[in-house]
Amino acid sequence: MKITVIYATQRKSKSSTYNIAQRFIRQLSDADTVITEFFLPESMPKFCRGCWNCFTDFTKCPDYGYLKPIIESMCEADLLIFTAPVYVYHIPGQLKAFLDHFGYQWMAHQPRKEMFSKQALLISTAAGAGTRSALKDLKDSMTFWGISRIYSFGRNIHASDWDTVEEKKKLKLQKQIDKLSIKIKADSMNIRVSLKVKALFYAMRYMHKKFRFNPADVRHWEAQGWLEKERPW
Ligand SMILES: Cc1cc2nc3c(=O)[nH]c(=O)nc-3n(C[C@H](O)[C@H](O)[C@H](O)COP(=O)(O)O)c2cc1C
Repeated sequence: MKITVIYATQRKSKSSTYNIAQRFIRQLSDADTVITEFFLPESMPKFCRGCWNCFTDFTKCPDYGYLKPIIESMCEADLLIFTAPVYVYHIPGQLKAFLDHFGYQWMAHQPRKEMFSKQALLISTAAGAGTRSALKDLKDSMTFWGISRIYSFGRNIHASDWDTVEEKKKLKLQKQIDKLSIKIKADSMNIRVSLKVKALFYAMRYMHKKFRFNPADVRHWEAQGWLEKERPW
């Protein structure tokens, strides 16, 4: 299995989301597992400028130099893991800025065929509240990228650092991590596209066929054969 991890922050040992992600990675890995990790904002420190270049040709994004290795790694991965501590009820700004750079690969534009055969695990922690809205920020992108199976793991850990999370809480988290890891591994044997993703694909296909808003999007869908009989799954 190949796993690509995007961490929303560069915190490691003190970070609860990082430590939870490491525990998932341990459970999900076997001898052949290849793990590639990216830390924000270091791996992609730029904001989207709204130049619209990506909607015609994503390689013309002014930040493509940062994005290229991340895109290549994500395309090759079987599982994408995103981590996000809750900042004021949502994902941290650097993760939002990262996701903004992938607007062009939403299903309404030029989705990537590779995404339809992937799983994604979204991990969020908060001191007391906000994981639901943070996970929704991430889930919206994953769904519109066409990811077939999305798992969310949001927990209130009542702490600012992993060191101060109670041992009892850590044991409970480990049990929950073990359980979800078993499900992710079992599902990976037979990845089926969710009904929601299929429904969105057909709605967007209809839109591209009928209205042909952006010529580059229509060219992409035509080149994939999706306006005819081909499907990305
Ligand atoms: C700028 C900032 C904003 C935060 N906003 C919230 C919030 O809205 N709700 C909440 O419960 N915790 C909030 N927290 C606390 C963190 O979400 C929480 O401690 C989290 O577990 C930190 O994750 P980390 O250890 O991986 O960095 C905030 C922390 C920071 C630094």
